[in-house]
Amino acid sequence: MDRNLALEAVRITEAAALAASRFVGLGDEKAADGAAVEAMHRTLSDLSVAGRIVIGEDVGDGTRLLPGLTLGNGTGPNVDVALDPLEGTTIAAKCGYNALSVVAFGEQGAFLPVPDIYMDKIAVGGDLPDGVIDLDRTPEDNLASVAAAKQVAVSDVMVCILDRPRHEELIGRVRDTGAKVMLISDGDVSGVVATAMQDHRVDMYMGWGGAPQGILAAAALRCLGGQMQGRLVVRSHDDQAEVRRYGLDDPSRKYGLSEMVRGPVMMAVTGVTDGLVAQGVRRIRDHAVTNSLVMRSKTGTLRYITSHHNLRLKQCDS
Ligand code: FBP
Repeated sequence: MDRNLALEAVRITEAAALAASRFVGLGDEKAADGAAVEAMHRTLSDLSVAGRIVIGEDVGDGTRLLPGLTLGNGTGPNVDVALDPLEGTTIAAKCGYNALSVVAFGEQGAFLPVPDIYMDKIAVGGDLPDGVIDLDRTPEDNLASVAAAKQVAVSDVMVCILDRPRHEELIGRVRDTGAKVMLISDGDVSGVVATAMQDHRVDMYMGWGGAPQGILAAAALRCLGGQMQGRLVVRSHDDQAEVRRYGLDDPSRKYGLSEMVRGPVMMAVTGVTDGLVAQGVRRIRDHAVTNSLVMRSKTGTLRYITSHHNLRLKQCDS
């Protein structure tokens, strides 16, 4: 994969973030998501690749970037694509914290295709010894193991968890160890990516979130460094049917980082609203500022890109 693709990727997430930003705080999740999907679709179509979506997005009412869709102008390399034009639709609608636009490119077979069901996730950033986290261990054991590896007290460990009733027990058990919990209302891609950021606000991520978001988060950790495990959560016959449709024969399988994302990947993330990972879009009349991260697993380079956009010269839906 050409490394210039990484810089093309940021144009794609910037376009989606700019489009979604018009709807931030307006209470209309579908409009925000739809605008992001359309903008991402348009910019992806211009790209010099023969792309195939593996992790996609469906807004409903025909606006979609579904798995299997081919993208790009077909003139470049074959790439697999994982994307979420607006990760955190509710956040964007409420002008909350942590909405992002995300795209990742890999070679064919790079991303584990997963249905849109829950995944149980655990993640830690940084260069810690292999096996420091394990979904099969208790939260208490994982916390003790991460604290020991980081040479800090358990009470210094910050765990990011989605604020959901299903996590009540987990949150209580983590707090009972003395560790701290950062509750987020949505957007667990940010929660996982934050474990690998240099500002050390978050040490670990734990809990159930969307499986597609799990693959996107794994792609980021492949670039930034860290460990992650995920296991699909099959709660119904419908979930079971979805898992079968995706050809995943063992629904109880625990996936490691290199099984969720294989080979070299490159990724771009642009903030839609302010969050753990990036500042959101700032719009002032015809001027907008975006903040993005561009990452490559091959070199581990992380670039922060702040772009100033003249909206008068851009396509009308920015
Ligand atoms: P969307 O962008 O699809 O709205 O996802 C937001 C999100 O918070 C994800 O980050 C997370 O993985 C998932 O929803 C959690 O699902 P639920 O809201 O059902 O707990």
